[in-house]
Amino acid sequence: MPYKSTPNFPIFVVLLSNRIDDLLITGSFVSGQRIANELGVSRTAVFKRIQQLRKLGYNIEAIRRKGYRLVPRFDGLLPLEIKVRLKTRLFGKEIITLDSIDSTQIYMGKLAEKGAPEGTVVIALEQTRGKGRMNRVWSSPRGGLWFSLLLRPSMPPKELHKLTLLFGVAIVTALKTFGIKASLKWPNDVLIDQRKVCGILLEASTETDRVDYIIAGIGINVNTSLTDLPSEIRNSAISLRDVLGTKVDRAELLSMILKNSEDLYLEVLEKGFSRVLSLWRSNSCTIGRMVEVCMPDGILRGLAVDIDEDGSLLINCKGIIKKVYSGDVTLL
Ligand code: BTN
Repeated sequence: MPYKSTPNFPIFVVLLSNRIDDLLITGSFVSGQRIANELGVSRTAVFKRIQQLRKLGYNIEAIRRKGYRLVPRFDGLLPLEIKVRLKTRLFGKEIITLDSIDSTQIYMGKLAEKGAPEGTVVIALEQTRGKGRMNRVWSSPRGGLWFSLLLRPSMPPKELHKLTLLFGVAIVTALKTFGIKASLKWPNDVLIDQRKVCGILLEASTETDRVDYIIAGIGINVNTSLTDLPSEIRNSAISLRDVLGTKVDRAELLSMILKNSEDLYLEVLEKGFSRVLSLWRSNSCTIGRMVEVCMPDGILRGLAVDIDEDGSLLINCKGIIKKVYSGDVTLL
């Protein structure tokens, strides 16, 4: 399984590999001699790591007198191919790419329990039991972008659901740079032309007044085709490839989402959610629409007028404003 980056190497080899990798993710040429000098190792050790990386699937260019350079493959999702593009401080400092897994949420849950650091990202090329909201199955064939991000925010548990809105904003903003106009359906869907392109699932481990960790799971239909999806969702789903007619580089998209969401997250921790809420409102396709909300205790119909400061949806039902904290929204 070439994508699994959890080798059983002795600790020194792992540390050395990481330091060589850190020099490679600058994306510039770095000479074998410089790596050897900086790390105090032999050029043979450097060469061995380069060979190891090539075996893992990395494209490493070698030019005499210039050295080595990591050249990310188009749409390559190996950890260093993402890191070479990343402009974040926290998100994506640890990346694990798996070829196939039941669910990145489940895998991340185990890492979180073992103390994985905030910002850890787990990506899967395919999920065999992807988790959606409300215990639904999330169809995750190859070609999509399926990942989970670990957060450890110091934030009261009641604020957490607003992080879903934050990720929605980060994703819509990233899609704009690809020339795609997407919009947000409360609370967790990203739509293009009324069809779902992305879902966000937030799972939390909390104590009464403290958050232990959050796992933000994001699934985007990027290069999937409709025929890869179950027939019952084909009419309501869309992929970026369907929209653009060409494949999208998932590593590029992921690095943008991580950057946008980190910027918003750090701002939220310092100043609160007000900018996230206003960005969410301006990218929403929910506000101003007649909606039907399916909740555990019944169905509500009315005009979605706004989202409140606490992230809830405000619905005008025959002149009475009702607050909805969770539920499935259908745009009528
Ligand atoms: C939804 O129901 O809209 C949320 C879907 C979330 C899917 C993503 S894919 C990556 C991560 N791993 C999972 O098993 N689910 C989330």
